[in-house]
Amino acid sequence: MLKGALALLISGGTDNWAPDRWKLRFNQKLKDRDVALFPADATDPDAMDYAAVWQPEPGLLRTFPNLKAIFNLGAGVDAVLQDPLLPAVPLVRVADDDLTSRMTEYVVMHTLMHHRQQAYLADCQRTRVWAPRVQWPARAVRVGILGMGVLGRHAAFALREIGFQVAGWSKRAKSIDGIQCYAGSGQLSAFLARTDILVVLLPLTPETRGFLARNLFEQLANDGPLGGPVVINAGRGGLQNERDIIACLEDGTLKAVTLDVFEREPLPSDSPLWAHPAVTISPHNAADTDPDSIASYVATQILSFEAGRPLQNVVDRQRGY
Ligand code: NDP
Ligand code: OXD
Repeated sequence: MLKGALALLISGGTDNWAPDRWKLRFNQKLKDRDVALFPADATDPDAMDYAAVWQPEPGLLRTFPNLKAIFNLGAGVDAVLQDPLLPAVPLVRVADDDLTSRMTEYVVMHTLMHHRQQAYLADCQRTRVWAPRVQWPARAVRVGILGMGVLGRHAAFALREIGFQVAGWSKRAKSIDGIQCYAGSGQLSAFLARTDILVVLLPLTPETRGFLARNLFEQLANDGPLGGPVVINAGRGGLQNERDIIACLEDGTLKAVTLDVFEREPLPSDSPLWAHPAVTISPHNAADTDPDSIASYVATQILSFEAGRPLQNVVDRQRGY
């Protein structure tokens, strides 16, 4: 067995998470190493120094007794942290320009779709109606970003560049040029009260689970140019209460939502969200982790770690993100 062997534990079921695709990329990036796909490759778990994982089955990582680090192949570590038997070695998450840019594309696209009344225009095209409505400028729209971490900040800068009034909310206080910063539960209401389009880029933790519920939606601004508040959630489905979302769309508390993540994934075919006219759905692909970029990211970290340098983007297990 060569040194620094890597175990790949990947599930997820979509094309992007096809395990062979990831194995191929890791073999290219870690040429002199053993890269073993579990459970497909019959390799000794004792020989594995590292694990790269996406939604690993709870308890599985415990069967690798000699791990030095675990690399989560995504930014959000909620699935891994749910494992009660998770080995006590550093857990590294993805914080990478490729993934960050993809998320900013998604956030900018959906913010613009709501701002530029794209659902109405698409409907006009479908019915062959030429009826432009008054269009307000970006500077009239207040975007609020829940979660001002790696992804939230990058999206905030892009939205500010377009001309939106941008604010962000995080756990700890921040000062960011050109962005109105709010922090902690004490400043949440003020943040929501100035927000027309709420972009959610929070991690799923015990504190944030179920956060996007009626009580929060009712605090969003109701005097903006869009005619009601809009929510874009690309964080995690566990943040949202889908019953409340539907009810709030029905009674006008919310004008529209874009959802990339769901309480249950894949979203069940009988969910009322699929057919609701004010709901835009994407299948948890706001920011795919690209096998090329992320295999490079992990390989670089392993080589640096073995050269005696500290791992980057290690998760604070106490905090949960
Ligand atoms: P970071 O850890 O960099 O940022 C998390 C942000 O959330 C921080 O600003 C943090 O505050 C804030 N936060 C966490 N808990 C709370 C709380 N209780 N109250 C207020 N603020 C809180 O994460 P990323 O930006 O890299 O990613 C965010 C999430 O996006 C991921 O956890 C994942 O769930 C999701 N994601 C979704 C993808 C998709 O395709 N849909 C792709 C990639 C990620 P502070 O700065 O003070 O610590
Ligand atoms: C991630 C994701 O957390 O793809 O990176 O959801």
